[in-house]
Amino acid sequence: MLSFLWLSVLLIQARQLVTAQQPSINIFILAGQSNMAGRGGLFNDTKSDRLTWDGTVPPQCQPNPSILRLTVSLAWVTAHEPLHVDIDYNKTNGIGPGMPFSNAILTQVPNFGVVGLVPCAVGGTNIQKWAKGGFLYQQLVRRTQAALTAGGVLRGMLWYQGEADTITKEDSDAYKGRLEKFFTDVRTDLQYPSLPIFQVALASGQGPYLETVREAQLEMNLPHVHCVDAKGLPLEPDRLHLTTPAQVKLGRMLADSFLESLPDSSIHVRSNYAETASNFIPTSFFLGLLTTFLLTV
Ligand SMILES: *[C@@H]1O[C@H](CO)[C@@H](O)[C@H](O)[C@H]1NC(C)=O
Ligand SMILES: *[C@@H]1O[C@H](CO)[C@@H](O)[C@H](O)[C@H]1NC(C)=O
Repeated sequence: MLSFLWLSVLLIQARQLVTAQQPSINIFILAGQSNMAGRGGLFNDTKSDRLTWDGTVPPQCQPNPSILRLTVSLAWVTAHEPLHVDIDYNKTNGIGPGMPFSNAILTQVPNFGVVGLVPCAVGGTNIQKWAKGGFLYQQLVRRTQAALTAGGVLRGMLWYQGEADTITKEDSDAYKGRLEKFFTDVRTDLQYPSLPIFQVALASGQGPYLETVREAQLEMNLPHVHCVDAKGLPLEPDRLHLTTPAQVKLGRMLADSFLESLPDSSIHVRSNYAETASNFIPTSFFLGLLTTFLLTV
């Protein structure tokens, strides 16, 4: 009887060891319009007469074997700038917040594991283009579900959108309701009602109703929606897009918001797991001896 008890203890410990060793991808959805897709480092090339990316990748945006991105054909590959090149494919892409966000997390929490980014942002899209039933909505849900089938944990959605909803009064007034519906629909369809959402309050707009949209963003009172404010971050000469240094700063702000949102215990839980794994052998060795002893008497 007693030995059965010890065996169960052993089995439980073994299961904890397996849990601790399984690498799991920490999945983040990246969605919204151009400032999420990334336009940092774009300039008008007078020779080709085209908007071109300068190719500058600061240290905070460099690739890392622990940062993956889901391609348009649903494969995990090592992520590198520009992250949205095959998603926002009609536009010239540059630096966005996804890489500096991921690198900031890995710097602050070295045992965080693998970050898996699911780019879904498309430039110039207003909130109605993101409504349930449309292409962008379907693509977001489908890509996230595909990302999860390979095994992983959905950690949140980064959302930076609304510049296109500052053009008419009607759109800016309707923004709050449309955004809340979008967040609620995404959570329902991903079967994750408390999906953490990290949204950016606008730094710029395409029209005169910027403050109305910002108010809607800052006053959003759905649970588990966190807001970081991009107001005042440096803009490109077009007065619409964040510069590369601004995107680096925004990525770090989003990472801080994500890490602060975690329950106090959750990062510690990870290091406890590591301790469990390293304590496992001596403890089980001892328990094993005891079990053998009890079984033989
Ligand atoms: C790209 O442009 C084509 C043609 O106008 C359009 O049908 C398509 O929806 C666009 N896709 C994206 C992601 O912008
Ligand atoms: C590129 O040129 C266009 C047209 O002159 C202008 O509207 C836009 O702001 C410029 N973009 C950048 C990044 O300088």
